[in-house]
Amino acid sequence: MSALDRIEAIRAAAESAVSAAADTAALEDLRIAYLGRKAELPQLLRTVAELPPEERSAVGSAANAARQAITALIEARTAELAGAELDERLRSDRLDVTLPAAPACPLGHLHLITQTWRDIEDVFLGLGFSVAEGPESESVEYNFDSLNFTETHPARASSDTFYLEGGALLRTHTSPVQMRSMIGSPPPIYVIAPGRVYRPDNDATHTPQFHQVEGLAVDEGVTLADLKGTLLAFARAIFGGEREVQLRPSFFPFTEPSVEVDVSCFACSRGTLADGSRCPLCKGSGWLEILGAGMVDPNVLLAVGDERYDPERVSGFAFGMGIERIAMLRHGIPDLRLYFDNDLRFLAQFGAR
Ligand code: DAH
Repeated sequence: MSALDRIEAIRAAAESAVSAAADTAALEDLRIAYLGRKAELPQLLRTVAELPPEERSAVGSAANAARQAITALIEARTAELAGAELDERLRSDRLDVTLPAAPACPLGHLHLITQTWRDIEDVFLGLGFSVAEGPESESVEYNFDSLNFTETHPARASSDTFYLEGGALLRTHTSPVQMRSMIGSPPPIYVIAPGRVYRPDNDATHTPQFHQVEGLAVDEGVTLADLKGTLLAFARAIFGGEREVQLRPSFFPFTEPSVEVDVSCFACSRGTLADGSRCPLCKGSGWLEILGAGMVDPNVLLAVGDERYDPERVSGFAFGMGIERIAMLRHGIPDLRLYFDNDLRFLAQFGAR
């Protein structure tokens, strides 16, 4: 076979191979087979100088033309297949951003205090109360003076209250939100105010920072019976539908009369367990203290400085409870400090809700 025929044969073989190639990887193999350093056509080009002079130019230009033609064919076919391959990859690799991450991220859960806080809020929202907030850095006026604390009340002592520079303090209870809610907003008023409070104590039953929920209702004709009914609904929602509440006389500066409120123990029957032994939760009394409350003292209504809070026309009740205490009673938690140690073995027990 003459050199020219051979070149033509190579070119024809390359053409059909290229058009039959299924993908870009096969084309790369063909490029190496036909145009690579060891391939026949380039070898031939390298030996053109050794041919008889009359053949050199014809063979040289035919081989060059064949090489260019094969190069162009491979490039064109590569471009064609690469486009199709990209389309296919885009189609099969499509990312569905709405799918959940795999494996799904472990999300954790709300802290028991937050859960209890929200449960309490839900109960009172259902009873028609709204949720108010106040600052944790509070004035002496709102925390004590306007709430009818005497000048010498022991709670004002620096051993019982964290005072801040400049005369403010870290609120010792959520009761100042009573004042803040009434100022600028006429009766009727039905609010609860959950939040953090602070006192300089630290032992099994006291932490320097804890949580309370305050409640306040002021309207025409509000009585102690309304307070009791409201707290009964609350106690049944949180501790179970069979609960009763009892009010015991007590004292708070900002309520008159003042009461402490007990819920009937849900762990026993009137202080006695089924096996006849004394109930450890209520210590045999049949009652668990859950909060302080009372009828809003007329002096507190007068301190609002708004004739619409005239104690001759409106009356109200107030209550305040500790969120930690409610959760401790509800779940049998023995030590307040467990809430704040951040031991996941403790916290994870309250993750299923
Ligand atoms: N502020 C009281 C405390 O921290 C709790 C309290 C008692 C709030 C009686 C009230 C109330 O609104 O009427 O001990």
